[in-house]
Amino acid sequence: MADKAASPKPPALSVELSGVPETMLWPLWHRAAETRRPDRLIEDPMAADLVARIDYDFAGSFGRPNAAHPIRARVCDDLLRGYLKRAAEDAVVIALGEGLETQLWRLGEAPDRWFSVDLPEAIAVRRRLLPAHPRATLVEGSALDPAWMDLLPEGAAPFVSAAGLLMYFEEKDVAALLSRIAERFPGAEVFFDTIPPFFSRKTLKGFKVTKRYTAPPMPWGIRIDELPRFLEDRCGLEVVSLQTYLDPFPQRTRLYRLLSRIGFLRRRLAPCLVHARAR
Ligand SMILES: C[S@@+](CC[C@H](N)C(=O)[O-])C[C@H]1O[C@@H](n2cnc3c(N)ncnc32)[C@H](O)[C@@H]1O
Repeated sequence: MADKAASPKPPALSVELSGVPETMLWPLWHRAAETRRPDRLIEDPMAADLVARIDYDFAGSFGRPNAAHPIRARVCDDLLRGYLKRAAEDAVVIALGEGLETQLWRLGEAPDRWFSVDLPEAIAVRRRLLPAHPRATLVEGSALDPAWMDLLPEGAAPFVSAAGLLMYFEEKDVAALLSRIAERFPGAEVFFDTIPPFFSRKTLKGFKVTKRYTAPPMPWGIRIDELPRFLEDRCGLEVVSLQTYLDPFPQRTRLYRLLSRIGFLRRRLAPCLVHARAR
């Protein structure tokens, strides 16, 4: 029998992150925990492995795991699978603010062109902690800098994801980014999530997720009933689907669902998952 003591644990992985880049560890923690549930929405063994190896107080910083980030990841996975089928060999994926998202491996199939755009310190961590993927290109830079758009082939209709990203921007920057995507890439599909204004205000005052961790300010909040006009009038995008986190997997959000039936509360409190298309 193999002697357990003879196979030493792999060394812990260190990460030096702060501000918004540190938030990449937050959904990673929730995806890792989701993977252990019998009723899991996603299979993410790479996230579980990273959480086990990264030297960081995940539970102390982010608290008890919940379903929100796994729901967002699963909704985006499903949309991407649909896009990859429709776009076939023309598929191009841009993952803005990809952090340590392991979607590329979860999908099991990858398009020929996948661009992961994140800030230099975040890309450095991604490069160090995740294996290189033969079809993925890591792009250091801000999603707000249109330089990444020049990497796309002429006439591309990409799938652009921005999970857990746009709330960290000012509204005018979100509108500028989305309208640039719509102008440059007719037919492009976009996926992102939003927080409501009350929650945005809370973060501007210093929202403590736990005693140990205060979330960075999230200046952009928007109500669910304001989203269609914002997207159509200011960004040149049409809504394909707009749902709250409570809609796609009701079995996982029972406690909150009753509340969400009250229209007034839903309009004011709901964080959303948005799928839109450039006209
Ligand atoms: C909450 S994490 C989300 C990570 C990933 N999308 C996920 O769901 O696991 C936010 C990510 O946005 C990145 N980010 C922050 N500002 C950015 C910017 N201006 N341009 C690109 N990425 C940015 C951070 O570095 C971080 O990786």
